[in-house]
Amino acid sequence: MDFKRNGNISEAQLVALKNWFSRYVRSFDAPDPVVRQALALKVDYSLRVCDEILNIGGKLTLGDGELRLAKAMALVHDIGRFNQYFLYKTFVDKKSADHAQLGVAALRDGNALAVIDNQASELILKAVSYHNRLHIPEDEGPACVFFTKLLRDADKLDILHLVSTYYYVPDSERNAAVELDLPDAPEVSDEILNTLLARKMVRMEQLRTLNDFKLLQMAWVYDLNFPPTFQFVYRRKYLERIRDTLPASDGIDRIYAGLMSYLKEKSGSGS
Ligand SMILES: [Fe+2]
Repeated sequence: MDFKRNGNISEAQLVALKNWFSRYVRSFDAPDPVVRQALALKVDYSLRVCDEILNIGGKLTLGDGELRLAKAMALVHDIGRFNQYFLYKTFVDKKSADHAQLGVAALRDGNALAVIDNQASELILKAVSYHNRLHIPEDEGPACVFFTKLLRDADKLDILHLVSTYYYVPDSERNAAVELDLPDAPEVSDEILNTLLARKMVRMEQLRTLNDFKLLQMAWVYDLNFPPTFQFVYRRKYLERIRDTLPASDGIDRIYAGLMSYLKEKSGSGS
């Protein structure tokens, strides 16, 4: 890295944050098995993003303190999901509230970062706040941009893992919320095809079908940042697995070919 990342936390600070996370999550415990399952899924997911951020960060030769800071961000990046589900019984932001902003509020209101110094706390709050935005604000400093990119890569890596498995489960186990309540119709919208052929990011409001959503997820490759992340996506065959659940179409073939050549080039796997 050619700039100072300038952010780290100690082992004791990470442990304190983990303890806060466990206490906070337990405060939402409820007898209803549906609620319990929804919350348990979010805990598992947060822990998997911790693993992914360490996978990527490890390949980038971060120092121990930086890896701990990255792990802290991954642990709490979706903390807003708990209050979101409690208040609105949904994980769909547009039907409730922006879960990143709910997360920042939960961390502030719960004094979660009390034992962490101001500089690292600011980085955690900003990374949480920016993790689901279409773009990272351009006026942020290098440390904020670096850690936010790292978190966004880890987050996308895990979602790609999740959906590339999910699309193979039987219909009876499908979950309308995961599919954003989009119809599983055979078509792909022309608007989505044209946007992706131009290598532009698709906005959520443009989605009309589940196939549109699958293409949006594949196109996250254009929003990844670090070579190790591209390598993980390539080696784990996430794009192939999602593509194989889409209908045969020239437009999809062209988009897939574009995505794969970009992925190979960025992961250093190209010929
Ligand atoms: Fe999130």
